[in-house]
Amino acid sequence: MIDVALTRAEVRRADMAVVIDVLRATSSIVQALASGYERVLCCESIERAERLRGPGRVLAGERQCVPPPGFDLGNSPSGFTEPLATELVLATTNGAPTLVEAANAAERVVVAALFNLRAVADAVDGADVLLVCAGTDGRPSLDDVYVAGRIAVLLEGPRTDSARMAECVAERYPDPAAALAASQAARNLLDVSLEHDVRDCAQESIYAIVPEILRADDGVAEVTLPAAQINGPSGVPPAEAPRRS
Ligand code: MLT
Repeated sequence: MIDVALTRAEVRRADMAVVIDVLRATSSIVQALASGYERVLCCESIERAERLRGPGRVLAGERQCVPPPGFDLGNSPSGFTEPLATELVLATTNGAPTLVEAANAAERVVVAALFNLRAVADAVDGADVLLVCAGTDGRPSLDDVYVAGRIAVLLEGPRTDSARMAECVAERYPDPAAALAASQAARNLLDVSLEHDVRDCAQESIYAIVPEILRADDGVAEVTLPAAQINGPSGVPPAEAPRRS
């Protein structure tokens, strides 16, 4: 069954979970791994991230869209186009905790954004697939539901009503940038003059990679690329960096 969790509260046991926080956590994770970070350590809280501070790591994330005090970077994908260390420690309001939660519920968890839309759809398998929208502050968000719908329409098999609802949202917006721009998450970014992040995150299928949670423990989900996608002939991410507006 293809199902959509409209918010983190709807995460349940599943064969495979596909976590979506297109503005901006999962876009940032895809960008960071495509750019050469070896791992992204997604943390359920700022405090958890701070405890991971150390050599070979940079701390990134946001609270109310801006970097937490003392962090090295915010949560703009454009901040991750050059690796500054081996590991990226990421603490965000919705996306990072959703990844930790999904890891505790699903057999396999992958990370989706528009950046890797086609690669994720191709990688989905299993009878029970849950597309998890991180949402915004506990509420469904248009941007994530749009991406869930875009993935759902590419998958074959029976689907739930929430998957059909997401597909309707996807059909409503022929232009991904318009779908993202219509969301509350985009308005939140506009309020802090980060509207260029919305345009950046609307770029579709620019990377042929599918980040996956390797392990999750004690409030941290470790996200990496399968070995074949790091150097393999079919999975090499395009060399180009996303266009910046
Ligand atoms: C989140 O995890 O809540 C976000 O990605 C929000 C943001 O990037 O500002």
